[in-house]
Amino acid sequence: MKIRVPATSANLGPGFDSCGLALDRYLYIEVFEPANEWTILHDLGEDIPSGETNLLVTTALEVVADLKPHRLKMTSEIPLTRGLGSSSSVIVAGIELANQLADLRLTDYEKMQIATKIEGHPDNVAPAILGNFITASFDSVEVDYVKASVPACEIIAIIPDYELATSASRGALPESLDYKDAVKASSRGNLLVAAMIREDLILAGKMMMQDEWHEPYRAALVPELAVVRELVKTSSAFGCALSGAGPTILILTPIGTSREIKAKLAEKLNLEKYEICNLNVDTHGVHVYK
Ligand code: HSE
Repeated sequence: MKIRVPATSANLGPGFDSCGLALDRYLYIEVFEPANEWTILHDLGEDIPSGETNLLVTTALEVVADLKPHRLKMTSEIPLTRGLGSSSSVIVAGIELANQLADLRLTDYEKMQIATKIEGHPDNVAPAILGNFITASFDSVEVDYVKASVPACEIIAIIPDYELATSASRGALPESLDYKDAVKASSRGNLLVAAMIREDLILAGKMMMQDEWHEPYRAALVPELAVVRELVKTSSAFGCALSGAGPTILILTPIGTSREIKAKLAEKLNLEKYEICNLNVDTHGVHVYK
């Protein structure tokens, strides 16, 4: 059995902790024979545990405490600590691992509840489970969500060569926001979602660029964000946003224009320090091959 979970990009600007989309880079978990203890083969580095303290196994055991240990292999195309949902993909894979091994037959709704409670916010785990573009709300007890498709566009990811821990990036956020400012920030998130659903990427892109929940506070941690924003404003692209907690930046641009945008990026950024690539929306979410 093999479990596949997509990468995700959370927030899209003002959809902070609420919106996210699934992307076609994947985490793969191969499940081999039962064993006396959990063993995970991987080449993700010494910092990633290879036994039952790995997030994959701790998550699976949170779902089924006496799950029979197995030998596993973890392969990931999702860069770590870059804002593309690598740890959320592991949480979703852990839930699916328990689901499959214990034959729980969890519904998407049940997976969403479990994953969101573990992660604390739904914007990465939701699209990792369901694919496409998800808008969700979590009140610490229950998560509600709507799935929508992403209008046709090209997506460029600018992935810096440095890591940014989500905890550090969240640490840059203020404790509170002024009421009027929160109302304005919220209206932009609302319009982002409405525009996506109406397939109006011009308006969605405009809202992506007007986040006031988190990007202004994180900009100092991701210096290239200002450079990319300026470039996007003077190009044919719809908009750009920090992907999750960063440092990856996502650009949404009309079909056929990503080449020209990437050429402009190459003039502004030192390409040795970035992976700049096109990504596609994943429309499936977590998938099990048997
Ligand atoms: N919404 C989250 C954040 C995503 O921006 O901090 C990363 O966990």
